[in-house]
Amino acid sequence: MITRLVVFGGTGDLAARYLLPAVSALFAAGHLDSRFEMVCADRKGRSEAEFQQWVAAQLDHHAADTPVAARKATAAATRYRRADIQSSEDVAALLPDGQPVAIYLALPPALFPAAVTTLHDAGLPAGSRIVLEKPFGEDLAGAEKLNRLLAELVPERAVFRVDHFLAMTTVQNLLGSRLANRVLESVWNSAHIAEVEIIWDETLTLEGRAGYYDHVGALKDMVQNHLLQLLCLIAMEPPITLSERDLRDHKVDVLRSIRPLTDADIPHRTRRGRYLAGLIGDRGVPAYVDEQGVDAKRGAETFAEVQLMIDSWRWSGTNFVLRSGKALGADRKEVAVHFRPVPHMPFGHQGVAAPDVLRFGLDPECLSLELTAIGPTVNTLKPLTLTARMDPPELPAYGRLLLDVLHGDPSLAIRADEAEQAWRVVTPILAAWSRNLVPLAEYPAGSAGPPRSGR
Ligand code: BG6
Repeated sequence: MITRLVVFGGTGDLAARYLLPAVSALFAAGHLDSRFEMVCADRKGRSEAEFQQWVAAQLDHHAADTPVAARKATAAATRYRRADIQSSEDVAALLPDGQPVAIYLALPPALFPAAVTTLHDAGLPAGSRIVLEKPFGEDLAGAEKLNRLLAELVPERAVFRVDHFLAMTTVQNLLGSRLANRVLESVWNSAHIAEVEIIWDETLTLEGRAGYYDHVGALKDMVQNHLLQLLCLIAMEPPITLSERDLRDHKVDVLRSIRPLTDADIPHRTRRGRYLAGLIGDRGVPAYVDEQGVDAKRGAETFAEVQLMIDSWRWSGTNFVLRSGKALGADRKEVAVHFRPVPHMPFGHQGVAAPDVLRFGLDPECLSLELTAIGPTVNTLKPLTLTARMDPPELPAYGRLLLDVLHGDPSLAIRADEAEQAWRVVTPILAAWSRNLVPLAEYPAGSAGPPRSGR
């Protein structure tokens, strides 16, 4: 196990909201001990005392649910270093003893190529691992170039292109439900399933992340990675094992079989939008373009929806809807599997029944099955929903990811070819949107998103 984690961008939003709480959860669950150290590096040049104050404040805010002892252990394991990721001297100074390290690039994707080149020049110790946040590259050509640079730096098994959705227990449960049971797999195909919705609608707004988000937008922030990964788990063929090779080969097969959208499809199979000022519940929200750091001319979308088809024996004829939006009226984070109507309904005119829906709630975690049952009066039907809550996970998603990185298990990381295939899917959409083939619709914050006109 590697015991040294060096985080570039180590005092940013990701470190504060996800990495520090993850380390704290790992201490709480007994996965880390006093040998572990986390070095947070950036160019700001803070004093250690200032940094420790910041760490304590972030842990209080974002890891309030972990025991005090675990938070203390995290603070004790964490220290600050000033370093510029574009300076090989700075980087080399963080790798003094030749011991393998895990380098986490919690940086904007535009900095990845330069960062990888610097790590190369600085002489990364053998056995080191590198962790990159999504989106991996800014487009297909960028991802290919980055993959080439990484291949010169470390073996593919040491590259962790992370997608924290894959480490959510609720997402893992997509595989659990499908592959550890008989009942679903026999109906898991287009003969029985009409549509799968993969939805991540948030009431959350920009939350001060313009420096990242305004350069990326919802399609690259959510669909190109998280939602396509969910699609892979739902649509893949059952693998022989869940080892990194089997799992990732099968996910790549799904991505390869997604039918590319053409300019003719894109206006009616995709939607994009940007939020205006509005009310979410009783919270007043400014328009996206009025948020600090946003440049309206960049045209970043805060809502993206894409409908895809998979060209395979199993899935030909099933519609897959992938959608994510910010500042919406209600959180809806789920995979909804819509079954086809029954072929024959023997209940006469009173036998109107909605087709079955299986919902995997991703946050909050829950599983529900919407069926039709016999109603109280003769020959009538009524909806019946079976719902189960899942046990809270031992580790948050980033906790599981960090543990895999430290142990060197890349099964939940995205492989080089997988990242490129995911870009292949969204590239025609990005190109068509940049030519305004689909206008950037506006929607009030607190609404259900842009209107569906024109579909
Ligand atoms: C991140 C996206 O990867 O996932 C955010 O950048 C999004 O825009 C977030 O809000 C959702 O995941 P979580 O775990 O923060 O709810």
